[in-house]
Amino acid sequence: LAVAVLASGNGSNLQALIDAQQEGSLSYEIKVVITDKHGARAVSRARESNIVAYEYAPKDYPSKADYEQQVLNCLNKHNIELVVLAGYMRIVGATLLNAFDGRMINLHPSLLPSFQGIHAPQQAIDAGVKVSGCTIHFVDEGLDTGPIIAQQPVTVTFADNADTLQAKIQKLEHKLIVDVVELIAQGRVKRHGRIIEII
Ligand code: GRF
Repeated sequence: LAVAVLASGNGSNLQALIDAQQEGSLSYEIKVVITDKHGARAVSRARESNIVAYEYAPKDYPSKADYEQQVLNCLNKHNIELVVLAGYMRIVGATLLNAFDGRMINLHPSLLPSFQGIHAPQQAIDAGVKVSGCTIHFVDEGLDTGPIIAQQPVTVTFADNADTLQAKIQKLEHKLIVDVVELIAQGRVKRHGRIIEII
């Protein structure tokens, strides 16, 4: 399965996908990394592993649709079949969504539908929940609202703050993202409307 990763920041989940791909014989291959943030660590991680990486700054384009068309052209050029949003800090618009409907997934650091949007770990701390976690879902036009593919829970203790919770969640994300991309690559993720079946 030809995979693209879109990332705006550190790219530790990208790294987890790269490491797993290099370690074992998996059914996916990361073909391209795209960032909207110049100098994002995700780009150097990609290049260190000889994966092509592109930096497209939205401000260099007249509109969001033009920016997304550039991203889409790049995805098509590389024959991408699945797009992974891994710390991509931008709401996906119609141009990309329509082209990759059902073929775009996102990682979110909470057990959705709780704590959508940014600062999910801080929201969990403020709410005093005792369990949080991470979610991987298909992307739809909403913010963190698409059909849920997989979730992993983590215990929240009194000692936790947003940073320690984020760190705990990221550990789980690094394994879950590899597992889910591999499941999709093996054709084992089936959609029944909003409900996902893993076969
Ligand atoms: C992850 O925690 C993910 O849940 C959120 O952004 C973070 C990205 O981390 N959407 P990284 O860039 O992969 O290290």
